[in-house]
Amino acid sequence: MAKINQDYCRLRGSYLFSDIARKVREYESKGPALPIIRLGIGDVTRPIAPSIINALHSAVDEMGSAATFKGYAPDLGYDFLRKAIVDNDFKARGCDIEEDEIFVSDGAKSDSGNIQELFSTDNVVAVCDPVYPVYVDSNVMAGRIKNFDEDLDRWKDLVYMPCTAENGFVAEIPKEHVDIIYLCYPNNPTGTVIKKDDLQKWVDHANKTGAVIIYDAAYEAYIAEDDIPHSIYECEGAKTCAIEIHSFSKNAGFTGLRLGYTVVPKELEREGVSLNALWRRRHGTKYNGAPYIVQKAGEAVYSEAGKKELRAQIDYYMNNAEYIRSNLEEAGYEVYGGKNSPYVWLKTPNHLSSWEFFDKLLYGISVVGTPGVGFGPHGEGYFRLTAFGDRDKTVEAVDRIKSMTF
Ligand SMILES: Cc1ncc(COP(=O)(O)O)c(C=O)c1O
Repeated sequence: MAKINQDYCRLRGSYLFSDIARKVREYESKGPALPIIRLGIGDVTRPIAPSIINALHSAVDEMGSAATFKGYAPDLGYDFLRKAIVDNDFKARGCDIEEDEIFVSDGAKSDSGNIQELFSTDNVVAVCDPVYPVYVDSNVMAGRIKNFDEDLDRWKDLVYMPCTAENGFVAEIPKEHVDIIYLCYPNNPTGTVIKKDDLQKWVDHANKTGAVIIYDAAYEAYIAEDDIPHSIYECEGAKTCAIEIHSFSKNAGFTGLRLGYTVVPKELEREGVSLNALWRRRHGTKYNGAPYIVQKAGEAVYSEAGKKELRAQIDYYMNNAEYIRSNLEEAGYEVYGGKNSPYVWLKTPNHLSSWEFFDKLLYGISVVGTPGVGFGPHGEGYFRLTAFGDRDKTVEAVDRIKSMTF
């Protein structure tokens, strides 16, 4: 009889967004008085920009002709895209990253879930709390995190780095020994950012202790202020201690198209083994490359017209963020994020728990957000709203929230 991987059986509950979707479906089936407005899951709503659509169309046409047809893509990504990534996301920012350090993929969720495969299950993992759930769950699936404390409602063999209002939602370097550190800035869910000097301290720490930082830069395109790094490689020494994960989902609306990439520097070695070589081997074995059509669309992201159109798209979402942030602040809410990030993180009023506040918004005014506790114990008492909605619906949702008394 086939035996089940018991590591999967240790996963807690179902995925946060599935729980939310179930509640919303049940509510919707009862025919609510007000139309539901969804500011919960971080999915974009603006259509794909015109220059990207043009690139998609011409790539589709190429597929229809024997002379230009493309079969399997190179495992690590087409050179045209890796060059555009290096030139625009790294060289333009003074980061010395080369094309053979870029691994094109179908998005940051897969990469941030899969990257842990490079490391022994003995490693101690540290995550921010609250955190994007994929980092923890993928380490549970791998058997690296096994013991859950039911009383405290947290993993015993995971190092939580609390991100609270007191530390500005920027994690402090853990005092205990850790081997793999997940950082994400601009942060999901808190919408906060890290200054370059603070990130440099993490890099120095990792180089000193031999830890590896997995830096999730999925939201870097939302950074508007100057002293906030877009890449960890803006810090000195990051190439010997950090892997960086990028996504085309939020900067270019590719949540449905699927495209991302991971940077594994050639200098990054542990126990005399090159992580770049290992990831190359892993990618070559388990992945057959992102579609040509989608990689051509990715190339268009870096064209002059593409950049201009995407700037306007990000501005659209950031206007929503500003509207949510400033109006809720005015209404007396304690609000964080929403400045260099599409996420607004608010403290629930009157000490309501995250799920109590979720229920009040859903059943009271048909607005869907995300309970902070779903991202980790320190998310309790907080709530996440996203700026990725339609402008009119966002305004309507904020007005409805303002009309509520607690
Ligand atoms: C922090 C973070 N990383 C990665 C992802 C996934 O990105 P992708 O759509 O490229 O898989 C998300 C999506 O919400 C995210 O919030």
